[in-house]
Amino acid sequence: MSLKVCVIGSGAREEAIKDAVSRSFLCEKIVDTPEDGADLIIFGPEQPICDGLVDYYKLKGIECIGVDKKFSRLESSKLFAKKFMVNHGIKCAKLLPVESDIFPQVVKADGLCKGKGVKVVYNQQEKNEFTRQIPKPYFIEEFLDGSEISVMSYFNGKNLVNFCPARDFKRLTSDIKSPNTGGMGAYCPVNLSQIQENKLQSYLDRLQTALINEGADFKGFIYSGLIWTRDDWYVLEYNVRLGDPECQAILNFLENDFLSILLNNEEPKYKKGYSACLTVASEGYPYNPVKGDEIILPHDDGVKVYFAGVKCENGHLYSNGGRVLSLCTVSDNPFPALRDFAEKIQMKHKIFRNDINIF
Ligand code: AMP
Ligand code: GLY
Repeated sequence: MSLKVCVIGSGAREEAIKDAVSRSFLCEKIVDTPEDGADLIIFGPEQPICDGLVDYYKLKGIECIGVDKKFSRLESSKLFAKKFMVNHGIKCAKLLPVESDIFPQVVKADGLCKGKGVKVVYNQQEKNEFTRQIPKPYFIEEFLDGSEISVMSYFNGKNLVNFCPARDFKRLTSDIKSPNTGGMGAYCPVNLSQIQENKLQSYLDRLQTALINEGADFKGFIYSGLIWTRDDWYVLEYNVRLGDPECQAILNFLENDFLSILLNNEEPKYKKGYSACLTVASEGYPYNPVKGDEIILPHDDGVKVYFAGVKCENGHLYSNGGRVLSLCTVSDNPFPALRDFAEKIQMKHKIFRNDINIF
């Protein structure tokens, strides 16, 4: 096979996907748009998936890796996702009445909000402020306390192929009240106890059965945001795509060919140690990031740099977004090396988390 592959989307996650695809012996070249004769389209972000572009290109006869419109509601409607979980016996937080005064509680906007539609609120005033800002409808669910993991799975049309668990760091800083971002770093694998492993496998079996029983007929990624609480995994959210930055960590950790996993039923195999990703963002992120700083990167063959929000002009690089760079490496202890690299980057308003570690 010799495929022309188009990757939809333009962030660091998509750069990592292109990097993995370009290493595959199944790939002839990467093309910029489906119209450039693509044989295979891999969808990165949720918006085109939820807009139904997978269905559109499949009708045109192009093979697509992306969840179809029907199942994209697992991400685009949190209430649809909740019904899916309840109908299939998948554990998740209980819905509370909108006027509930049990705090903390979690407010969730129903639709797509780029990670800004969910907040844990600790009192009525916070609840009022947040519910005023977000799109309607919204709902309230019970607060679950525990440690979170992200599990990305690939549904190949018949069964679910699961990648190793990853952990992302969504908050801007270590402060529990700091804002949620698109992700300040991630690592994989996550060390789990035997009971956590077993319960994870039960959950993933249940998810596979649910998809098959609901007639799922697509090839695409499903992301489960899980929390360990009350001695089991509870689902906090579904996404219908690879996580960003978890994707960068997982794809760099793969030892075998990514396209062979997607197209030839290979199981993922991994390198040794841990794979980690650290986000370099720009001051003001996530609300109002400074743009236009010149960026000069240090040389280090051990660290891969994916561009998230970077503009290239006359051979110079400039910051052009909130999340600017995604730094990746694999080793027994990857975060110190990534921090070191981040320190050496010249970019006036750079910010990054220096407290993230494997735990
Ligand atoms: P979501 O977009 O639904 O994953 O929510 C973003 C973040 O909000 C999650 O990663 C959790 O940290 C937190 N969160 C969401 N739902 C709950 C819940 N029911 N209990 C506690 N934290 C939650
Ligand atoms: N890292 C979480 C997400 O991609 O939604």
